[in-house]
Amino acid sequence: MSRAPGESGSWEAVRIPAFPRQSCRVDATSVVYRSASPEQTHALGEAIGRLADAGDVIGLIGELGAGKTLFVGGLAKGLDIDPAAYVSSPTFAIMHRYPGRVPLYHIDLYRIETADACARLGLDEYLQGDGVAAVEWAEHGWGILPKEMLTVRLRYFGSDTRLIEIIPVGDRYVRLVRELMRQFSALKP
Ligand SMILES: Nc1ncnc2c1ncn2[C@@H]1O[C@H](COP(=O)(O)OP(=O)(O)O)[C@@H](O)[C@H]1O
Ligand SMILES: [Mg+2]
Repeated sequence: MSRAPGESGSWEAVRIPAFPRQSCRVDATSVVYRSASPEQTHALGEAIGRLADAGDVIGLIGELGAGKTLFVGGLAKGLDIDPAAYVSSPTFAIMHRYPGRVPLYHIDLYRIETADACARLGLDEYLQGDGVAAVEWAEHGWGILPKEMLTVRLRYFGSDTRLIEIIPVGDRYVRLVRELMRQFSALKP
């Protein structure tokens, strides 16, 4: 799990100009990483975790089994969270806090079906607070998530391959993605 994401996965030369979000369209340019294994998805999460800081919000979109929770495991590693403390899925609890370089708030909105129910959860203090918030099923939470955030969309592309679209909205996240790409510049589109 310690390989760099670029080692045998690859960046795709795909740029998607806009990303539909609930009622508005947010202008964003995304990059796509082709992950050929669970290890690569984990390593990509780890690389983003190393660049992440307090206040960051990372939303995850993708079908069941796409790799959202695995990616958050990588994020946890990049935030120096004790691997023994990381439980693989907080689905039974809406939010799980892990202490690390900065805390990780792992939020799972799978069972939250309405905007009202989501608003009532009172998750505000974990978003843009003292830690990094990673939100699975982010599409269930557009009403409470900030406009500026990093969205990571995972899609099946064969049994062990996933196309991972990374969509930064806001200068902070554009810079983060630029740095991520710089670290793996050989594979830049
Ligand atoms: N390239 C890949 N990236 C991520 N997961 C993969 C990949 N190939 C196979 N898998 C498998 O897909 C599953 C992803 O599970 P999980 O992360 O719990 O998904 P989710 O949280 O999106 O429901 C794991 O069993 C993992 O081993
Ligand atoms: Mg999950």
